[in-house]
Amino acid sequence: MASSSSKQDVYVAVSDAQLASSAAANAVSADISQLWKQSNAKDKDTRTFYGLDGRTVVAVGVGKKSANKDENALKEQTRRAAAVATHALKAANSKSFAIDPLHSAHAAAVGATLADFQWNLKTTSDAKAKLEKVEIAPLGDGKQTQVESDKAQDGRIGLDWETGRVYGQAQNFARVLMETPANKCTPTLFCEAAKKQFEGVANVEIKVHDLKWAEEHKMGSFISVSRGSDEPLRFLELTYHGAANKDEAPLAFVGKGITFDSGGISLKPGAAMKEMRADMGGAATTLASTWAIAKLKIPINMVLCIPLTENMPSGKATKPGDIVVASNGVTIEVDNTDAEGRLVLADALYYTTSQYKPHTVVDVATLTGAMMIALGNQFSGVFTNSDSLWSELDAAGASERDRVWRMPLDEGYTSQINGTGMDLCNTGGRLAGSCTAAIFLKRFVDGLIVDGSDNEQQDGLVRWAHIDIAGTMDLAGSDGGYNLKGMTGRPVRTLIEFARRSAKA
Ligand code: BES
Ligand code: MN
Ligand code: ZN
Repeated sequence: MASSSSKQDVYVAVSDAQLASSAAANAVSADISQLWKQSNAKDKDTRTFYGLDGRTVVAVGVGKKSANKDENALKEQTRRAAAVATHALKAANSKSFAIDPLHSAHAAAVGATLADFQWNLKTTSDAKAKLEKVEIAPLGDGKQTQVESDKAQDGRIGLDWETGRVYGQAQNFARVLMETPANKCTPTLFCEAAKKQFEGVANVEIKVHDLKWAEEHKMGSFISVSRGSDEPLRFLELTYHGAANKDEAPLAFVGKGITFDSGGISLKPGAAMKEMRADMGGAATTLASTWAIAKLKIPINMVLCIPLTENMPSGKATKPGDIVVASNGVTIEVDNTDAEGRLVLADALYYTTSQYKPHTVVDVATLTGAMMIALGNQFSGVFTNSDSLWSELDAAGASERDRVWRMPLDEGYTSQINGTGMDLCNTGGRLAGSCTAAIFLKRFVDGLIVDGSDNEQQDGLVRWAHIDIAGTMDLAGSDGGYNLKGMTGRPVRTLIEFARRSAKA
């Protein structure tokens, strides 16, 4: 379609999902090339044509085809064009439309699906109408791609329209969980939403644990955060067996699940405190990614652990200066109750790595305000001592344009979090707040690969990465494409893509 005869490539999306045959699509495309020229449209412009054969047709200028564009640029151009077309067709009230796969059917589906996202609890008929589902189909068979890394190889499944839909739907699911206010997304309700989402997905087992279970596992650090809240804590444990060998070591995800972070006794200021309904962004994105991985039947084994609690002040709440004991026996001074994320992750990381012996563990957390200062909303920060894990995450993030940047995981920062009368202190002062949080977490990864070794997967040891998403958690305004205002659901696509690429033949 995009290769129609005109000099400028015109991306075409049509308001008719039934228009799947390429003969019909090509007929529309031929008409559009003429109209596009007559309309004086330029590269990146958008034109909506009404009443062509009873259809609404949206054309988006995508510049001249050039051979030397790299794969990731081609995919991004596709995502963006699909998103722009989706916005235009929805604005034209189309409920059913077909989207040009351009360079990658996968990327087109991602762009359209993300652009289609809507979330609100308004009750006016106007607002409700906007929430109605639209039907989005590919022009053609949905398998088209010019991107080599989209293709199936070495045990990886290939990428096409269907995978793009699932990647996009997973990210939208994470967005919903993150937007949902804390009274509608308590630890208990989060677990119910998780179970509902996984209904009918094969080879998945979900367990939801309570306070008694956490006590049995001596999770004093996690429990200390929950003390101020009237909502009972939960610990969600999910396994997915997708590998041919059910005993193969799993990939593990751990997500920070603070369903509301008031700061606790170290109370946060009121302005923007409501943003902290999304302090379960790590939980939401790891859950959503795991859903996509299982839904797509990616042939790997996985485990997902999510500690869930509110962080609230009350007469029962943990106080600054209190000392708690984590499940691995480490004693921690709670210098500031607002540094609660590392406290819940400590026990979750230790549990996950000691129980499951994963080959790789990735934790995701809205952990530090300092991360927003360092990288803003462009990149999520990755802390890891494994060069191989870093490059795998980097490549996955680049191919989905859900980008990550490596930050230092360095023992030099430990002096800032060493306790005086105890092992660790949960704050590290003003300097490098994201780096001190990361080096704190390192103490709770059981069987971590050794610093300075060759950093490859080592038998019986685990590669670990911590991803701080405080900066990429939300976006102040839409960029006109698929990045919308509000909670982002990042880094869902990076995590799924990383998992897809990790499958070995
Ligand atoms: N959830 C916050 C971090 C955060 C802030 C995420 C803004 C997203 C947007 C975290 O629990 C927190 O409060 N961290 C403190 C740590 C400090 C007390 C050492 C922070 O960053 O100020
Ligand atoms: Mn906090
Ligand atoms: Zn927090």
